[in-house]
Amino acid sequence: MSETIKAPKGLAGVIVDTTEISKVIPELSKLIYRGYLVDELVEKCDSDQVAYLMLHGELPTDHQLAHFVSKEKEYRSISDGLLKSIKLYPKKAHPMDILQTAISYLGMEDDRLWDDDHDTNYDKFLRMYAAIPTIIAAGYRHSIGEDFITPDPSLSRAANFFNMCFGEVPADGIVKAFDVSLILYAEHSFNASTFTTRVITSTTSDMYSAIAGGVGALKGPLHGGANEQVMYMLQEVGSPDQAKAWMEDKLAKKAKVMGFGHRVYRKGDSRVPAMKKAMHDVAELTGQKDWAKISDILEKTMVDAKGIHPNLDFPAGPAYYMMGFPIDLFTPIFVISRISGWAAHVMEQRANNRIIRPLSEYVGHELREI
Ligand code: SDX
Repeated sequence: MSETIKAPKGLAGVIVDTTEISKVIPELSKLIYRGYLVDELVEKCDSDQVAYLMLHGELPTDHQLAHFVSKEKEYRSISDGLLKSIKLYPKKAHPMDILQTAISYLGMEDDRLWDDDHDTNYDKFLRMYAAIPTIIAAGYRHSIGEDFITPDPSLSRAANFFNMCFGEVPADGIVKAFDVSLILYAEHSFNASTFTTRVITSTTSDMYSAIAGGVGALKGPLHGGANEQVMYMLQEVGSPDQAKAWMEDKLAKKAKVMGFGHRVYRKGDSRVPAMKKAMHDVAELTGQKDWAKISDILEKTMVDAKGIHPNLDFPAGPAYYMMGFPIDLFTPIFVISRISGWAAHVMEQRANNRIIRPLSEYVGHELREI
């Protein structure tokens, strides 16, 4: 066995492998996907082009994009069996649990479950990329006692999600803000859920199992679940004139405030400026400006007091709320985006694999007899 290295708790600061997919540059608060600055991708691309970039390593030509989008539209529908099974889940089920179970169901339906070649795994990615929005919307419609709305191939992936949830598509500016969030949430190197998908892949388990595992990790409030907690927080604050005192009270109690801090960024999350702009755009378009004001005051109070900056979940929460989504759909929406980052890491791990199996230092009872 090679020499042992004792890592800090939480693997903080530990480089465990190489990747060609993305790079977080904390000292510059920058993020690049396959060499492109995310800020530039947000300005010049849509989320389908970014998903293609994630999996292929290059931005698509017009012809490649047209083929990618046509496959996505072809794969949007889910089987009657899956739709019926979603309707049998407990009414109180959290949408992340519905999604995790449904992704496993997609695997159960797929005769190629154990086929592990690149092209088959890429097709499995496309299947999940296309079906995950449908699954989330189907679960939501069931939870409110409304009929399932079938996917509309005339709409973009982003617009179709609104239509499947609400039966209508909002103003272009709101769909654009949603699409910006799908670009920003797509990938972030070896975060907890992505590393989970790589660990599962390293055992040569199947891609559906790896993605279902990623959903389980992302659900946690310290990770993707934070965007839901942020909105509950803003509702607890209630109004802009309560925001400063609310944050000061939390700081006095040394409470952990959701939506702030990051393991890698120390001078601010590179994705926050673009998401904040999207959040303010939605506030203007929907007339719900108080949520944006509360958010800005909470941020200023925290940064002034502790120098801890917001992460992407902080502006994303109120943005999704103002778009009309129920709070328990926020983290599933994170999955609508992160499926492309996860799939890219699954493919990368598979291409140069060694089972991930760290050591532990035993500090329990010394050897003893019964
Ligand atoms: C995501 O890794 C990724 O890239 C994740 C992600 C992605 O795209 O995949 O960016 C998405 O998960 C964003 C993070 C969402 N989570 C939250 O918003 C939950 C609240 N944040 C914290 O729990 C925390 O900041 C973490 C989990 C994000 C990071 O944890 P670390 O690196 O282990 O930092 P820490 O908890 O050790 O905090 C370091 C110090 C502590 O002070 P001391 O105890 O040393 O005095 O900073 C303080 C913490 O108390 N601190 C906070 C805080 N975050 C850190 N204090 C109050 N509120 C916070 N949110």
